[in-house]
Amino acid sequence: MSKVIIACDFANRQKTLAFLKDFAGTNPYIKIGMELFYGEGPTIVKELKNSGFRIFLDLKLHDIPNTVRKAMTNCAKLGVDMVNLHAAGGIEMMKAAKEGLNTVPGNKTLLIAVTMLTSLSDEVVNEELLIKENVKNTAIHYAKNAKLAGLDGVVCSPLEARSIHQNCGADFLTITPGIRLASNSKDDQVRVTTPGLANELGSDFIVVGRSITASENPRESYLKITEAFTNGK
Ligand code: C5P
Repeated sequence: MSKVIIACDFANRQKTLAFLKDFAGTNPYIKIGMELFYGEGPTIVKELKNSGFRIFLDLKLHDIPNTVRKAMTNCAKLGVDMVNLHAAGGIEMMKAAKEGLNTVPGNKTLLIAVTMLTSLSDEVVNEELLIKENVKNTAIHYAKNAKLAGLDGVVCSPLEARSIHQNCGADFLTITPGIRLASNSKDDQVRVTTPGLANELGSDFIVVGRSITASENPRESYLKITEAFTNGK
């Protein structure tokens, strides 16, 4: 099964369904983020899940432990395959999230922590947020916290995947955005990696948006990226 997650960054249900129509028979893993979720609500998640898609619900929770616990119970009830939160919320919050998922009998939702947003520079992290370490070291430290809290993995840059596996174990999942084919534009991503390099660096799943959604033939691009990621080319 493909480990390429398509970021469905669309404004509404109609655009999302129109896009996904092309993917019949490929059973992709799709990411529903804040844009689509806040526009359409949980109904779109249930609808796409019932249509057979594997779903990463990317809502990046960050609140007090009690609130996150209860919100995660509701995410688990939607039957999604993967959810996430910000590791910056702390170990207690991450443990509470796991407890929240586990209150739903038979729940198998993977719980993933965002380490550092790839939009943050060392300068912003040091001078604006007053974090003493650089982005990479902070991401590795947050990944260790996520591991301690019992999470399944982290969202990180492919360039950090190897160090995170070394620190947190080979089974600890690395979900990596910032992927581009060599021929694509970087758009607003700063550090980009090809699917093949992401495989070599140890990414377990890649999240791909515009290289698929904005391509002339999204289905073909998805299959090409899956092939390149699977075979490390
Ligand atoms: O279009 P593109 O491939 O850049 O989309 C990447 C997707 O991954 C977007 O949905 C973006 O929100 C998400 N993401 C990211 N960097 C992070 C976390 C999530 O690009 N650190």
